[in-house]
Amino acid sequence: MKVILAAVGAFLVGIVATFLVIGGGNNSETAQSFITPNKMADAVHVVIEADRTAYSKNIVNRLVNEEKVIKATEHWKEDKSLLLPAQMFRAGSELAQKNSSDFSYALLSLWPINKQNKAKTPAEREGLQAVIDHPNEPFYKEETLGKKRYFTAVYADVGVAPACITCHNEHKDSPRKDFELGEIMGGVVIRIPLN
Ligand code: HEC
Repeated sequence: MKVILAAVGAFLVGIVATFLVIGGGNNSETAQSFITPNKMADAVHVVIEADRTAYSKNIVNRLVNEEKVIKATEHWKEDKSLLLPAQMFRAGSELAQKNSSDFSYALLSLWPINKQNKAKTPAEREGLQAVIDHPNEPFYKEETLGKKRYFTAVYADVGVAPACITCHNEHKDSPRKDFELGEIMGGVVIRIPLN
């Protein structure tokens, strides 16, 4: 009797396990068809913007403007100061690119202070102009670089604070001196490999 019960038990466990495996397979298929490249880019952008805002608010603004214990300056190494938010952004994106050669993100502009932040591909140039014309819509485009196909997304970067405008307008390396408050100063470019 015990032997029969054990056999029936093992059989039932087997059926349940089979269903779990099939169910699991279906779920991951659903997940794959659900996460489109533009949804992935949107999600990555949310994380990037959240990190940038947290650094600007909780580190730079708190310690520089409220507590006045340290400065944030471009030559942070020599000055023993905090990195500017755009430099913190670049530091993160360079590390990410080191760890994953295909996926990349960057803060670019048609009028960059740092020449490394200028548009390098036609899709980047088109995207930076598109987010100036339509700031509330992300720009999406597929592009081929070398032999690889990529999905490229661009999101508007707005000069939300007077400090953005004054610093860029007064910076010696800035090709533009007439930014105005609320203007689109550049864009976050996210590139996802498709094959
Ligand atoms: C104290 C000066 C300063 C302030 C304030 C500042 N920036 Fe910048 N920004 C820089 C510097 C310097 C760079 C170049 C960083 C690098 O080496 O990549 C830069 C880079 C950028 C870039 C990439 C293109 C470029 O110019 O190289 C964008 C876009 C940008 N900043 C937008 C903003 C916005 C939006 C704000 C406000 C929320 C802001 N910046 C505030 C100095 C500043």
